[in-house]
Amino acid sequence: MARTPRILHLLVALCSLSSSSITVASASGAADSFLGCLAAAGVPPRLLQTPASPSYDALLRSSVRNLRYVAPGTPRPLAIVAAAEPAHSQATVRCGRRHGVRIRARSGGHDYEGLSYASLDPRERFAVLDLAAFREVRVDAARAEAWAGSGATLGEVYYAVGAASRALAFPAGVCPTVGVGGHLSGGGFGTLMRRYGLAADNVLDAVLVDAEGRLLNRTTMGEDLFWAIRGGGGESFGVVLSWKLRLVPVPETVTVFTVRRSRNQSASDLITKWQEIAPALPRDLILRVVVQSRHAQFEALFLGRCSRLLDHMRAHFPDLGVARADCEEISWIQSTVYFAFYSSSKPLELLLDRIGETGRYVKAKSDYVQEPIPRRVWESTWSWLEKPEAGLLILDPYGGRMASISPSATPFPHRKGNLYNLQYYSSWFENGTAALEKRMSWVRGLYREMEPYVSKNPRTGYVNYRDLDLGTNELQGNVTSYAKARIWGEKYFRGNFERLAAVKSMVDPDDFFRNEQSIPPLPAAKGWSSI
Ligand SMILES: *[C@@H]1O[C@H](CO)[C@@H](O)[C@H](O)[C@H]1NC(C)=O
Ligand SMILES: *[C@@H]1O[C@H](CO)[C@@H](O)[C@H](O)[C@H]1NC(C)=O
Ligand SMILES: *[C@@H]1O[C@H](CO)[C@@H](O)[C@H](O)[C@H]1NC(C)=O
Ligand SMILES: *[C@@H]1O[C@H](CO)[C@@H](O)[C@H](O)[C@H]1NC(C)=O
Repeated sequence: MARTPRILHLLVALCSLSSSSITVASASGAADSFLGCLAAAGVPPRLLQTPASPSYDALLRSSVRNLRYVAPGTPRPLAIVAAAEPAHSQATVRCGRRHGVRIRARSGGHDYEGLSYASLDPRERFAVLDLAAFREVRVDAARAEAWAGSGATLGEVYYAVGAASRALAFPAGVCPTVGVGGHLSGGGFGTLMRRYGLAADNVLDAVLVDAEGRLLNRTTMGEDLFWAIRGGGGESFGVVLSWKLRLVPVPETVTVFTVRRSRNQSASDLITKWQEIAPALPRDLILRVVVQSRHAQFEALFLGRCSRLLDHMRAHFPDLGVARADCEEISWIQSTVYFAFYSSSKPLELLLDRIGETGRYVKAKSDYVQEPIPRRVWESTWSWLEKPEAGLLILDPYGGRMASISPSATPFPHRKGNLYNLQYYSSWFENGTAALEKRMSWVRGLYREMEPYVSKNPRTGYVNYRDLDLGTNELQGNVTSYAKARIWGEKYFRGNFERLAAVKSMVDPDDFFRNEQSIPPLPAAKGWSSI
């Protein structure tokens, strides 16, 4: 399959990682008492890093994936706790509460707005609870189940599942360096979603440290909290250390293809048609599109052989012109390498690379599309995509299993009626405000232009594509304002936002787990009768 280096290069960048130098902040009295408390609780000093420690910068940067949030002047954690055991995480929460230090838990560091390691508020005293050591993946192939630590990457999960069985898979995202903790906390969609739903739809149990520092599992946390952590966004309810996953059956041979159609090969027509075709395809087949520069790249995974796939393509989308030569028949585990690295012949061990690419700035936004966008709009989109500062668009079709799960089954509400998720993504290397402003205004400008054609009242987005443009929290008294948080919250969670706030009131009424877009407690006056 021929692909230009440019496309390859930029697509791989979706899973980027970064590093940079950062300014030094002084350790404070709060830090000293917090660290003293951790030491007294038995957390070994080698697991505690302050800005004075020689390896603080390296540890902080170890999974920072957006240089915008390590720019000079960005408030930095007063400590990083590299917890090695559940008890260390419990102590971090307890000591943080006691000494007025908030906790930001980080699993893979991929969140687009840096919420897991940076704060927008220079007054905030916070520590990063780094979960990288919680990355064990234990697969029980006979029971089709696995336990995965929050600090494992999706690539590590896929590798472990693939090593245990060629007939099992886990349905989650395409980027292998994304951490399990954040991904599952926000839902988690990928190439198997049309058959099996979200990653969060396939969670059976979890181990969590709550706001009191207790270690809870599904039985002891109760179904309300267990509901909230499977899609309500990371960090609002506690720190999930590990997840029990339901593995799903896949055939030993699956088929993938990637075909590119350029603007002058009627890409606009194909995208226009794709909008209705892709969400209605058989659920064993996903056909996503990445639109960039002058091309639309159609990427498919089919849970079966090439001949059946070609039958489906001829029946449903003959205009795309997919031919036998486009097919590659591979194992599911190879397909995870294919979608991450655009080659099925690369070694599976690439999935174990926790770092990936480095050194990018990132901005993304997202929409849900419920009615096909007219062809003339796609045609006019090329003028955006061909700009020198252009990013790209990723269209992930829903339908299938996604449409048959109730919008309130988990906090993730974007089910029936959504044709596809539309992501606006830009990443760049250039330092400086000129590049930043150009790139940011490209993403924001195209997003503004698409407003008439996407979901409305509210205009919805995907919480794992965090976007602080949608709104940020403000305090009301000593907790986060519910009224203000609703502005961004209903965009991610629609009608589930109120229930998330009700769960927050039950499990963290003091709002200890707080960040720019954490779930606020529901004000007592609003009550909540049905949970
Ligand atoms: C960007 O440039 C500024 C000012 O020259 C510098 O302080 C900063 O370290 C640079 N950041 C990165 C990530 O290189
Ligand atoms: C959950 O925790 C309780 C109390 O520690 C324990 O009795 C129970 O076996 C645990 N459940 C599972 C499924 O591990
Ligand atoms: C169509 O676009 C491709 C890629 O941009 C280019 O190489 C090719 O020459 C174009 N063909 C025509 C007929 O314009
Ligand atoms: C927050 O404010 C309420 C009402 O003023 C008070 O009852 C509560 O103790 C305060 N909580 C904290 C953690 O300060």
